[in-house]
Amino acid sequence: MLTYLQVATYEELSRKGADIIREVITSKPQCVLGLATGSTPIGIYDNLISDYQAGKVDFSSVVTFNLDEYAGLDGENEQSYRYFMDHHLFNHVNINKEQNTNVPDGMAFDLMVEGICYDTLIESFGGIDLQLLGIGLDGHIGFNEPDDCFTKETHPVTLDESTIEANARFFERKEDVPTKAITMGMGSIMAAKQILLVANGEKKKAILEKALNGPITPRVPASILQLHPNVTVIYSEV
Ligand code: PGA
Repeated sequence: MLTYLQVATYEELSRKGADIIREVITSKPQCVLGLATGSTPIGIYDNLISDYQAGKVDFSSVVTFNLDEYAGLDGENEQSYRYFMDHHLFNHVNINKEQNTNVPDGMAFDLMVEGICYDTLIESFGGIDLQLLGIGLDGHIGFNEPDDCFTKETHPVTLDESTIEANARFFERKEDVPTKAITMGMGSIMAAKQILLVANGEKKKAILEKALNGPITPRVPASILQLHPNVTVIYSEV
């Protein structure tokens, strides 16, 4: 089942998204959260930090798995997704960062093996309770780019030109954007008990429409979510 919430502002999207995540943590303190990077989730993380400071949420038993990481960047690199998560969320709440937060290792010698280990670890925690997702302009979720088939496992990928261009805003020069990454595949994402997809801005409208109402195809990776039993989409045009 898909619940579609169109809200008026990014602030509302962020508050609503944080509320949904907080409800999952409250009902299951040892929950497993699948987390996402990108600009859209930042407001959600800000709200979760405020909620934590106000004593409304406790991360002490929460376990997290991030969707993806650039290949070749270590956690100290400011452009890495490990660094993003530490700075936008983990360093500001009472999560056990060393033991309970997981981001695929973009420095792993063999990213295929890293993917197998990552999936095994997710399964050992009983899978993901709630997976937070953004959506790329090309319809990607995580770094699952448009392709001829859906890939189930966590796996290495080559980024699309449009993704590199979209992400160049975070780097000094476009040439600095890594061209390869590792991403959770559709298996762990679709096995999540609940999915929360957030999209912000007029520019995401067309791809969101395609993903939610168009044909289910690996050419629009997010379209696979139409087959998931519990998806909430929050969209704000501004
Ligand atoms: P954004 O990225 O939140 O920065 O728009 C979403 C994505 O590419 O998954």
